[in-house]
This record gives sequence, structure tokens and C-alpha cells, in this order.
Amino acid sequence: MKFIIFNGSPSGKNGSTGIMGNAFLKGAEKAGAQVEHVFLSEKNIGYCKGCFTCWFQTPGTCVMKDDMEELMEKYRQADVVCFATPVFTWNMTANLKAFVDRLAPLKSPLIVRREDDFDLADAVSKTQKFVIISNCGFPGKNNFETLKQVVASCNPVLEIYRNCGKLLKSKDEQVQRKVSQYLEAVEQAGYEMAASGEVSEKTRKSLEMELMPVQEYVRYLGM
Ligand SMILES: Cc1cc2nc3c(=O)[nH]c(=O)nc-3n(C[C@H](O)[C@H](O)[C@H](O)COP(=O)(O)O)c2cc1C
Repeated sequence: MKFIIFNGSPSGKNGSTGIMGNAFLKGAEKAGAQVEHVFLSEKNIGYCKGCFTCWFQTPGTCVMKDDMEELMEKYRQADVVCFATPVFTWNMTANLKAFVDRLAPLKSPLIVRREDDFDLADAVSKTQKFVIISNCGFPGKNNFETLKQVVASCNPVLEIYRNCGKLLKSKDEQVQRKVSQYLEAVEQAGYEMAASGEVSEKTRKSLEMELMPVQEYVRYLGM
């Protein structure tokens, strides 16, 4: 079983999103999965031109020649695809959006209707499961609302949203103890996904743990 994270944090390996992603993959690897963490900030990914050549002239193949060729292959081969991003202005980062737009060759120009909604058909039926990992700088759950709606279209089996994300990189020992406890829960989620294809209610609940009361966090940020 292959797990791949496409991480859209501009901070790449040094980001809080990366810390969460590493914990998730560590758990998956312990359960026997092959894992890969792709940092999109290190890749050359041009913006989709919107030419639709990948639908009408060369179905499934993009005209642009850059790192997407290699990444698309990795995407196709994965069993579990994880989109990871910090919240930037309520949404995914531009890095991840550029990547997701370039997945257009996976769609076909056939409109399908589901009740009152319309979508494009997949060129090849999806076999992957989708996971979302995100962190944001502010406290409160509202910062993830836009992102949640955006990612709903890929029907994620698991969504891990971490507010107060700055704490993930804290040097304070007391904070680090709490963060370690949280990252163990993220690791457990990765383990369960790889071992059984699903994540228990107990683990899902522990992913919601508070890292620090809001007032204390605001003081911690110095804002
Ligand atoms: C341009 C920009 C926009 C941001 N927008 C939000 C936001 O809307 N809500 C929020 O809670 N945090 C926001 N943040 C804070 C980031 O989500 C936070 O710093 C996060 O921990 C960065 O993760 P990373 O280290 O993986 O890049 C923003 C940061 C930047 C630079």
C-alpha cells in the first residue's frame, strides 16, 4: 500500500504542515505502508493554462512539460493521497492550488449529474482514498470552514485540522509535551489508515485535542 502526501506549505520541510505530515506517514509506515512526502515548494509546477488540450486533443496528457509529469505518475500509483496545506487566507496555499489545477488531465469532458449537482467524470475511476492535513495560525475552528468546503469534492476519508499551528514548532518544554501527545494521535491515525483503511472514533476524537487555551495562545503569539 502506498501513501503519498502532496504538501503545499511554502515552508516545505520546515513547516508545521510538514510536522503533521511526517507524523501521519510515520504511523502508516509502521503499519507496513510505503510512504512518500512530496514538498511542492521544491517542485517546478507551472499554472494550468486552461487550454483543455488534456481533454480534447491528447486525453490524459498535459501540454506543459514540468515536474507534474513525475508527480502525476506518483499520484496515479498511490492508494492513499493526502493533500496537506497550511491555511492561507482561509484556503489552501497557491502551491497546492497550482498542483490541484494541474490534475485536470485526470478528468474527462463528460458532465455527470448527481441529483441537482453537476461535475466532470473521472477519465479513469478513482481508486485512491483521500486525506486532508492542514494547520492554521489562529485559534478557533472557523479558519478551516472554506477549506473544508473546497476539499469536500474529493470525499476525504479523513480530515486532520490543527489550529494554533505555531505551537507545533514551539521550543517551550511544556508546550512540546502537549504537541508530542498530539503528534502521537496523528501517527496513530496514519497507522490505522494503513492497517485497516479507517480511523477509529477514539483516534478521531484525540485529533481534536486542545493544545493551549485560546487566551494563553493569543498571549503566546504576542498579538
Ligand atoms: C499569507 C498568509 C495567510 C494566512 N492566512 C491565515 C488564515 O486565513 N487563517 C489562519 O488561521 N492562519 C493563516 N495564516 C497562518 C498560517 O496558516 C500558519 O502560519 C501556519 O502555521 C503555517 O504553516 P506552515 O509552517 O506549514 O507553512 C496565514 C499565513 C500567511 C503567510
